[in-house]
Amino acid sequence: MCGIVGIVGSGATAAAVVEGLRRLEYRGYDSAGMVLASSSGFEVRRVARDTSSIAALSEWLEGQNPPRQLVAAIGHTRWATHGRPSEMNAHPHLDCSGHFAVVHNGIVENYKELKDELIALGHEFASETDTEVIVHLVEERFRLNGDAEASVQEAFSRLMGSMAVVVLDLREPNTLYMMRRMAPLVVGVDDSTLFVASDVPALLDSASSYFMVPEDTLTVGKVRSNIVTLSPELDELRVEWDVSRVEVGGFSDFMSKEIDEQPRSLRDTLAGRVDQEGRISLDELNITQEELKTIQKVVIVGCGTSLHAGMVARYALEHFVRVPVEIDVSSEFRYRDPVLSPTTLVVGVSQSGETLDTMVALSEAKASGAKTLVVSNVVGSSMARMADAVLYTRAGPEISVASTKTFIAQIGALEILALYLADLKRTLYPSEVNELIGRLNAVPEAISVALSQIKEYERVAQRLLGYDRFYFIGRNVGYPVALEGALKLKEITYTPSEGYPAGELKHGPIAMIDEQAVVVAIAPKGALYEKVLANVEEVRARGAKVVLVVNEMPAGHMASDDDVFLVPQVHQLFSPMVDVVPLQVLAHYTSVARGLDPDRPRNLAKTVTVE
Ligand code: F6R
Repeated sequence: MCGIVGIVGSGATAAAVVEGLRRLEYRGYDSAGMVLASSSGFEVRRVARDTSSIAALSEWLEGQNPPRQLVAAIGHTRWATHGRPSEMNAHPHLDCSGHFAVVHNGIVENYKELKDELIALGHEFASETDTEVIVHLVEERFRLNGDAEASVQEAFSRLMGSMAVVVLDLREPNTLYMMRRMAPLVVGVDDSTLFVASDVPALLDSASSYFMVPEDTLTVGKVRSNIVTLSPELDELRVEWDVSRVEVGGFSDFMSKEIDEQPRSLRDTLAGRVDQEGRISLDELNITQEELKTIQKVVIVGCGTSLHAGMVARYALEHFVRVPVEIDVSSEFRYRDPVLSPTTLVVGVSQSGETLDTMVALSEAKASGAKTLVVSNVVGSSMARMADAVLYTRAGPEISVASTKTFIAQIGALEILALYLADLKRTLYPSEVNELIGRLNAVPEAISVALSQIKEYERVAQRLLGYDRFYFIGRNVGYPVALEGALKLKEITYTPSEGYPAGELKHGPIAMIDEQAVVVAIAPKGALYEKVLANVEEVRARGAKVVLVVNEMPAGHMASDDDVFLVPQVHQLFSPMVDVVPLQVLAHYTSVARGLDPDRPRNLAKTVTVE
């Protein structure tokens, strides 16, 4: 959603802020702004030109001649929540006296009450945002106590909701005031320069060390006489990503780059989690083996693609570990009064580790006494810090809004967890676990084989361009793949698409089938193969264009105008990691062919930090 980039000290340049904002574009935004502070004063620029706002900021800077020697610069990309996207509503916001500037991600839930209070005290508001109350609150406290740090602290203590906030006192621009609550905010340091950003990729080639701003604690960063100080002292974050992972390289867009990176993402996620004897070691989990052995129920929560990865893992957990598994959309979980106990393991699946719906679900589960584990791609993310245990996917930064490589890595991590639990609980023999690990380790190569057929997949996608509705169907693990195929297509091409359990079609959705409908059936070899093909007969008979995702040509089950996505066969429970590949390619090809930008779908944000 919104993005923050701030710099103070000798390396403070407006260009570095703009570059950082560019790196955060993938979070989704509709307007942008920045404040530049130098010894001779400050300047604010706000632009509301949808996805070209950052370029407009850059043009504005290029027009400034000569560039000024800055003390501090803070930039922001806004994804509108309160108040439409406009210059007036873009951040930073200033107080009435023009001394304090604020940028903010998240929502100030009690802003109405605070705004009324401040208006009664004579404050005049220049925007429709919730954010602006923050800076007026700071100003109000400062008027009474004359102490910037105490004022910011007092203002923060009045704010309700989850958010990340950075305040700059323009009379003392060598100091940044930073606060976060259930939203990311990372500090970076390099020699005599202090950075702050809402996400690590913004700082990858600038900072040499990284720290997470602690939850609900005002953090003050200063640069004085070329020395950076942070109060309180912060724990350093281990960041293994390098800048090449956030550059598009030789690819046309990040989505195609990330699709291509999938074998590596899975390999890296599996690597190091199996010891010399072929046994799984998950020492990184902060839950003891004894505690894990007592688990009697698993509940998986997540949103969107992450939820689909969780749905895939349910089959492995039930089959290998013989524990009951519930799965729920994070935003629904908390409202259904779930039955949890210390022998329940609640697994939150979240690429970003910051999705508020999943974070709230996990925190409620923890408060109810359940054990919590998060599968996340971002080291030090809020969920990783909050859960009892964390299992990191090692997919590298995912920039495209549409998740691809992290979906596969999440499934890989969850399959490892399932096999680990099966080993601990002795629901599988060690030899069986060993054999399954071997089959899991074969999946990255199978994905590479699928990727080598991209051109063929694209030829099929091209033939489907004229159709106006897509239905994806599958059974067992093919069902979450169907949901994921439909989600990818709708989010980056805006084509009406739905995913259904194949057997459910005849209970309603089949009424929608006609010659303009495409039915994509996920039918890997396995016990339910024939049953899926039988469902395909039903839609073919009603005029649908049929596309099959299969391991070999289904002789005797095809009509002359059917199309086929051939994918290599792997263990059936692992097949979603391979079967999803042509569906990602279908969505990507369709998006590009229609002149859309697959990396920046309309209305969507990469990290959803509001409920
Ligand atoms: C779809 C997509 C979203 C995310 C969802 C959860 O391509 O990326 O559906 O999966 O917003 O995000 P995380 O995994 O960060 O919690």
